[in-house]
Amino acid sequence: MSTVKDHLSDHEYDGIREYDNPTPGWWHVIFIATAVFAFFYFVYYDANPDSATIWTELARRQNVENKKIFGALGDLEPTPATIMKLTSDQKLMGVGQGQFLATCAQCHGKDGGGVNGVNLCDDSYKNVKSLEDLYTVITEGAGAGAMPAWKTSLSKNERVLMASYVASLRGTKPASPKAPEGTPIPPWPSN
Ligand code: HEC
Repeated sequence: MSTVKDHLSDHEYDGIREYDNPTPGWWHVIFIATAVFAFFYFVYYDANPDSATIWTELARRQNVENKKIFGALGDLEPTPATIMKLTSDQKLMGVGQGQFLATCAQCHGKDGGGVNGVNLCDDSYKNVKSLEDLYTVITEGAGAGAMPAWKTSLSKNERVLMASYVASLRGTKPASPKAPEGTPIPPWPSN
């Protein structure tokens, strides 16, 4: 009984007295630890623009994966045979599509139908007569810079792959195609 009395607090309201039952020490330790953790978590992930997000981590892993894929391919040359051959590689076309969505879609549309860039799905081209020309336009740009040059931001292998991906877009049906520009050219060599 005496121990209960010891825990009674010393004030009394209308004959009502309370126990003083503090939360245990271990509980306080965990509570403070979570608050300290939350502080560092916030500073690291929310207040720091350089911290990794799941997206940067995804991009990093994708990069590692692409390097592996490209490493296995060796040095690609922009020949018609190579460009056509790559179009039938499902996995590489997937990689090409990822690159296209990231770097080309804002002008050429997600499906290549054209926005302010030209439609890449029809048979008419402004700067292209052959498969190699796709590589040249991607490398050097066109339309006095309206189509940027990618030689510094994409590796040679990536540019060959993009030429191949663009070649594969020809004949597909984009959702809202831009009117053809340039002149119709003969079909790609079948190889
Ligand atoms: C800033 C907008 C923009 C971006 C980004 C862009 N393009 Fe273009 N692209 C254009 C324009 C505009 C043209 C037409 C140039 C002209 O008028 O001669 C063009 C033309 C082309 C052509 C030649 C088509 C033809 O009819 O001659 C190809 C191939 C091409 N782009 C591929 C790509 C690829 C692949 C990427 C991504 C790596 C890309 N473009 C990114 C704007 C862009």
